[in-house]
Amino acid sequence: MIILKSADLSRRRFTNIVVPVCEKKSVTAEAKLAALVDDVLSLPEFEGKEDDVLMRYSTGGIKADRLIFLGLGKAKQVDEEGLRRMSAKGVRRALELGQSKVSIVMPDIETLKIDRDRQVFAVIEGALMANHLFHRYRSKKASKVKPLVAIEVLIARNEVNRLRAVAEKAVMLVTGSLLARDWVSTPPMDKIPEKFAAMVEKSLEEVSIPVEIKDHKELANMHFGAMLGVAMGSDSPARLVVADYHPEGATKTVVLVGKGVTYDSGGLNLKPADGLKDMKSDMAGAAAVAGTLYNVGQLRPDVRVVGVMPLVENMPSGKALRVGDVLKSHSGKTIEVGNTDAEGRLILADALSWAAKTYKPDLMIDLATLTGACVVALGQDIAGVFANDDKLAKAITLSSDRVHERCWPLPMPEDYKVHLKSEIADIANVAGHRWGGATTAALFLSEFVGKSRWAHIDIAGPAFTHKDSPYIRPGGTGFGVRLLCDLLFDEESALKI
Ligand code: BES
Ligand code: ZN
Ligand code: ZN
Repeated sequence: MIILKSADLSRRRFTNIVVPVCEKKSVTAEAKLAALVDDVLSLPEFEGKEDDVLMRYSTGGIKADRLIFLGLGKAKQVDEEGLRRMSAKGVRRALELGQSKVSIVMPDIETLKIDRDRQVFAVIEGALMANHLFHRYRSKKASKVKPLVAIEVLIARNEVNRLRAVAEKAVMLVTGSLLARDWVSTPPMDKIPEKFAAMVEKSLEEVSIPVEIKDHKELANMHFGAMLGVAMGSDSPARLVVADYHPEGATKTVVLVGKGVTYDSGGLNLKPADGLKDMKSDMAGAAAVAGTLYNVGQLRPDVRVVGVMPLVENMPSGKALRVGDVLKSHSGKTIEVGNTDAEGRLILADALSWAAKTYKPDLMIDLATLTGACVVALGQDIAGVFANDDKLAKAITLSSDRVHERCWPLPMPEDYKVHLKSEIADIANVAGHRWGGATTAALFLSEFVGKSRWAHIDIAGPAFTHKDSPYIRPGGTGFGVRLLCDLLFDEESALKI
């Protein structure tokens, strides 16, 4: 629970107070605390650099069990990401100490160059994301750490009322990311298409977003031949989840499409052991779309937002799709399968062309853990952006910087389409070589979006991690939810729908 409180430290008792400190500079207006910070800054082991931490039990007249001083780095360089990391580290320190409460001092408004609302927003985001644990699969005995029950943010008394709305919004928007994280972290046996579809439906019901789940028979009637081709090898049948937030009077429509391969074994082009390891995360695009729709259900903007999530499991078996098979996609285009491990683009081909035709969106964005090549190009922390509109690509990268879900634009040169030629069908699902794999995958998708204004975000790198960082633990990262929410709904977004 997030509580905004006045930073008047003389009035009551605290258990744990987190005090951010800039490099050689106190950033707190509270007199007693400022004196303590000066004290701490005179010690050789704490300079206020990023990652500096110092704990004090003797609290110089402040009634607190512990003070946790955290370095924020140079005052002029502090940004929202620095604030997210600071509050996250504070929460994690309290968790490690077995505490149930923490109070985080908001750095002083005069000294930082970011808008106050965004500062508070970032501090709450970092704190809540750090307080989230995925312990559903640990036995009771093994999971000793429990999330904090209360996180206070200490601000000036006259700000408390004004910032309440900001705090509420931050709490709201974090929820979608945390849902997406949990879905991605869930073992693949527990999220086969049917089960994952039900989980998404249940969550979106909570926020009054209508969900339709299309089964195999309906998908066959809809001519989803490419998607059903991928599902052939699995004992778990495919599902298409469609979540439609349609407010009265909406004049614009945004469609979000997410790749939902609940497990990608590669199919008959079976992945090697290393490649199989993280493939429960191959539905992270769908998870991000569902998480975003959850936030939409709380925010209730005045645009129509449709989430389209094709869910399949890609497995090898006697019934599996073969290399050499030709599939007839929903668009009517035939696709020769050159590699069964390039399954994401097959399910997206049907989802994209169906969504473009059905909703005639003003904007369509897909998120997909689509290619290893994108991870080779940009590393594990940065997603690739492909768009048929430069302004859209620019708006995405600007939002991505702000929320620190980083993206970088990559090209879709028309002449590279020759690589996707098939000898017998309209198009092949893979190029004849591996060069520029993220680009050829995006070019393949571009053949199925019609005339829609469209962007594709390849999140193969950042969707899942084994690294522990202040507000993202190993597992699903929820990448894409905060990005899409900033892009579509933040006043400062550069996007015009
Ligand atoms: N799901 C994978 C892409 C992936 C790789 C996601 C690593 C996350 C981490 C995708 O379905 C795939 O297997 N792509 C192939 C395409 C190739 C066969 C053209 C790849 O990237 O190797
Ligand atoms: Zn694959
Ligand atoms: Zn895949």
